[in-house]
Amino acid sequence: MSQSLNPMLNTAIKAARAAGAIINRASLDLDRVTVTAKSHNDFVTEVDQAAEAAVIDVLLQAYPGHAILAEESGRSRGAKDSEYLWIIDPLDGTTNFIHGFPVYAVSIALAHRGQVQQAVVYDPARNDLFYASKGRGAFLNDKRLRVSKRTRLLESLIGTGFPFRKGDNFKRYLKMFEEVMQHCAGLRRPGAAALDLCYVAAGWYDGFFETGLNPWDIAAGSLMVTEAGGLIGNFTGESDFLYQREIVAGNPKIYGQLVNLLTPYTKVIKDDEPKASHAAATATAVAAPADATEAFIATASAAASAEATAPVAAPAAPKKPPVRVRKPAAPVKGKPAGGPRR
Ligand code: IPD
Ligand code: CA
Ligand code: CA
Repeated sequence: MSQSLNPMLNTAIKAARAAGAIINRASLDLDRVTVTAKSHNDFVTEVDQAAEAAVIDVLLQAYPGHAILAEESGRSRGAKDSEYLWIIDPLDGTTNFIHGFPVYAVSIALAHRGQVQQAVVYDPARNDLFYASKGRGAFLNDKRLRVSKRTRLLESLIGTGFPFRKGDNFKRYLKMFEEVMQHCAGLRRPGAAALDLCYVAAGWYDGFFETGLNPWDIAAGSLMVTEAGGLIGNFTGESDFLYQREIVAGNPKIYGQLVNLLTPYTKVIKDDEPKASHAAATATAVAAPADATEAFIATASAAASAEATAPVAAPAAPKKPPVRVRKPAAPVKGKPAGGPRR
């Protein structure tokens, strides 16, 4: 199978399988895995770290001049100024892994000048390999992937991720959840965003949305979606999602319907908006892809604290404010409180 693949994709597959072997071995004796909390509810194990080191070793051995952005070690390894950036989540779904819930994956993407060109998501519990090269389709093992053909959101199965970190805006999420829940056939939250996007590519989900994700959670999965004929973007339906901490994906019809529901909840700040006047400006990615990575790293923690303090209602209006969740109206007897403006 791999003979005809792009050499960089082949290297990524080799790296993902090396990490998968480490994860599978550790899964046999979870009691011996040491768990450390990075923050409340956000865990890392020595398996994440060993898997990440294995991935980076394989990648840098083949491409020593490339840059690396990895969840656990950041940009500490690899070149600093390459046009090629490997974006790595060595174990997506760590909480599942710790509990022996077999939904987790290794996620590796290669971006060239900010565009994801190669992608691998490896599910070691099932030995399922999702991979894609830009312009050459997305595959699960040897099978070509296509997004679903469903056209009605009301009949659709939608994936999502729940907020779980201290400081996440739970109220905002619950409003989105309520909104989407009422307009679809079912919502699922397995717990590994990289796989969630592969499930959209495979047509198992018709759509997906989540907030608070990092580039390593979604870079590889995003190429699977587009190469399988799907669409992916931020809550206003634009392509600027990798560093924006809000993502929606789906087959083209369902993507449009999800965007319609989620646009009121966007936190993306446009380049022509006065950033300084808005707390969430710290979360803004810039247009130039290389800078976007730097901006993301520099502002990730500031963005997290802005999210932690962001109110549910609109803050003081910037020149062109993003649509905010409206403060719910006082419930009228016998009627539910009003939802966000659409
Ligand atoms: C997590 C998973 C999860 C998502 C979280 C991520 P991790 O990744 O992708 O589905 O909801 O936001 O942090 O921490 O297990 O690599
Ligand atoms: Ca992750
Ligand atoms: Ca991870």
